[in-house]
Amino acid sequence: MARGIETKCLHLEEEEGYSSNYGALSYPIYQTATYAHPGVGKSTGYDYSRLQNPTREHLEKVVATLENGIDALAFSTGMAAIAMLMELFAPGDHLIVDADLYGGSIRLFNNISEKNGITFSHIDCCKEDVESYVRGNTKAIYVETPTNPMMNVTDIEKISGIARKHHLLLIVDNTFLTPYFQNPLDLGADIVVHSGTKYLGGHNDTLAGFLVTNREDIREKFRFLIKTTGAGLAPFDSWLILRGIKTLGIRMEKSQQNAAAIANWLQEQKAVTKVIYPGLPTHPGYETMKKQARGFGAMITFQLESREFALAVLEKVRMIKFAESLGGVETLITYPTTQTHADVPKEIRERNGITESTLRLSVGIEDVKDLLEELDKVFREIEGKLHG
Ligand SMILES: Cc1ncc(COP(=O)(O)O)c(C=O)c1O
Repeated sequence: MARGIETKCLHLEEEEGYSSNYGALSYPIYQTATYAHPGVGKSTGYDYSRLQNPTREHLEKVVATLENGIDALAFSTGMAAIAMLMELFAPGDHLIVDADLYGGSIRLFNNISEKNGITFSHIDCCKEDVESYVRGNTKAIYVETPTNPMMNVTDIEKISGIARKHHLLLIVDNTFLTPYFQNPLDLGADIVVHSGTKYLGGHNDTLAGFLVTNREDIREKFRFLIKTTGAGLAPFDSWLILRGIKTLGIRMEKSQQNAAAIANWLQEQKAVTKVIYPGLPTHPGYETMKKQARGFGAMITFQLESREFALAVLEKVRMIKFAESLGGVETLITYPTTQTHADVPKEIRERNGITESTLRLSVGIEDVKDLLEELDKVFREIEGKLHG
């Protein structure tokens, strides 16, 4: 019987037993750049750490197992993973991408991939007729679900039907839900992207990225590309991510539980004009989430009555940190306009619904009563100041 995901976060079946690594429960950090050969034409299985390193390899096997892929590749950051992914495409190729994506992905597509001759249709994949954008030179559909930061939810199976019909790759950035809550490859995706900096690492202490696939032809291309472009994850960072993954399940459960409580609290606030959390039955993607995911995650985006109110929240929070990033044990609050989406042109940001009064919360694993107490104090103080 297949093992449960919490067990898979801790144990890699194929490397179990007492003979390997002296029985060490924590996988060793092989801090080496190169490997001595036992003789001409003989190898230990490793040549040079840009190609592969045992610690990175162990992590890659764990992530491949969690995502039900045949291979996973670990990169120095999520953006390094996405930049290498774009090497699958050639000048003249066209991609359909979600309009609302992490700002760094949009910046990469618009400034680097376009310069390299790739064109994009930025569309709302959860609402628009995706098939009508397919052209003769279209090669892939790229989505995040839920998206960063507007939490749009795309039906992965539905989009994968369109991708299959037109022989396109379906690429899903699964950073927000992680394999603990969602497995896009099982729903018809060909490639899964992760910023491992977020929930997989989980402790706001290192950066990483992943590409996972269940296709042999893509795996071969990726292996060629990682050794050629050289953005593989270093051994110590690989170990940090491995350690983070051990507690992925309990972190995801606890942060989701906290997020649900905070989303409900936000909904009751007069100063909040909109709460966007896919775990709320009023969210347009709620039913799709229930169908394709095992949870709703812990990311909440909300709109305040004014820019002034939003900025005051950022000024006043103390335990909740005003910081970029997400997915760690500490709760972070982010201002997409000047942080994660600063480089996205204003008109596109606004078309996606990101305004100067939009805030994004990455809910951590603190005691939720402390989070609510701080939010309540901050909101009451601002209301007192702004409304007398
Ligand atoms: C959804 C998503 N994908 C990719 C990235 C890029 O990852 P990294 O910051 O590790 O380069 C981020 C970063 O915030 C993200 O939120």
